[in-house]
Amino acid sequence: MNELQKRIVEIKKQKNALLLVHNYQIAEIQEVADFLGDSLELCRKAQEVKDADMIVFCGVDFMAETAKVLNPEKKVVIPSAKAICPMAGMLSMDVLLDAKKKYPDAPVVLYVNTLAEAKAEATATCTSANADKIVKQLGAKQVIFGPDKNLGYYVQKRVPDVELIYVPEDGHCRVHRYLGDGETAMKLKVENPGSEVWAHPECEPEFQDRADYVLSTGGMVKRAKTTSAKTIIVGTEEGLIARLQRENPDKTFLPAKDYAVCGAMKRITLENLYMSLVGEEPVVEVPKDIADRARVSIERMLEMS
Ligand code: 13P
Ligand code: SF4
Repeated sequence: MNELQKRIVEIKKQKNALLLVHNYQIAEIQEVADFLGDSLELCRKAQEVKDADMIVFCGVDFMAETAKVLNPEKKVVIPSAKAICPMAGMLSMDVLLDAKKKYPDAPVVLYVNTLAEAKAEATATCTSANADKIVKQLGAKQVIFGPDKNLGYYVQKRVPDVELIYVPEDGHCRVHRYLGDGETAMKLKVENPGSEVWAHPECEPEFQDRADYVLSTGGMVKRAKTTSAKTIIVGTEEGLIARLQRENPDKTFLPAKDYAVCGAMKRITLENLYMSLVGEEPVVEVPKDIADRARVSIERMLEMS
C-alpha cells in the first residue's frame, strides 16, 4: 500500500466510515475497499449497513443515491460530484411518465442506473445480475423497461413472452457501445486457443450473441474462479480486469478492446477519496418524498432476487 492508501485506511477507521467500491474503480481504490462488488452486491451491502457512522461510495451518482435511499439517516458521501453516469441521465421524467400513461397496466422495471426520481416511479428496479428474474416474476404481458436497451435485449432473449416497452428508445452505455459487435474480442479468441469471451449485458446485441457468457461484473468475478479457461477476453469496463487479475494470478484477462474506460467512474481518485473522508463531503442528498418512493422499488428488487 502506498502512503495515501495507508492514510485512507487510517482515517476511515478513525471516522468509522464504510468504504463501498464498485468493480470499475481503479486498482488502488479497490485495494482499500471495505466491500468491493457489482451494483446488486453494493445495494445489498448498503441495505445491511448498521454500525458505520458514514458511507463513502466510490462509484457513480446513482449508486451513491441508492445507498442514501437505503440509509436515510446516515451521511453518505461520494468523493467526486462529477462521477455522473451518462446512461442514468438518458431517461427523462417526461418520457417515463408518458409511457406510464400510455401503458397504465404495464409494470415499470428500471435498471438501477437511473436517478432516484425515476426509481420513485418504478414497480421494481433491477441490475444486470437479476433483470431477467425480476421481469419474469412480475408475470405481466408488457413491461416498461429502461434505460438500457441492450440489457433489455438480454432480458427479452431469456423472457420472450413478455413485451418490453423501452424508455427511452435507445438508452445505452457509451463504454459498452464502444466495445462494438465483439469483432475485436473474436479476433483475440482465435489468437488465444481455448480462451473464453465474456460480454456484459450492456454490450451490443451482436457482441452478446457472439460471447461465450453474458455476465454482470459480479458474475464475471465468480466465473473467473471456476472456469478452466486460462485466458479470458473480458467485454466490459477495464477497471474490472485489475480485480480479476489480482484474484486469479494463474489466469490471463485481456480487454475485449483497449481503452474501454468509464470516465464517470474514473472521476474518483485516491486524492479526492482522501479529501472526502477528511471533509465528509460532497454529501449525497435525496429529497425525502422521492427517497421514500424509490426505496419501495429498490427493496422490491432485493426481495425478488
Ligand atoms: P454491474 O452491476 O455488472 O456491476 O454493472 C454496473 C454498471 O454500471 C455497468 O456499466
Ligand atoms: Fe454508466 Fe456505463 Fe459507466 Fe456503467 S460503465 S457507470 S453504465 S457510463
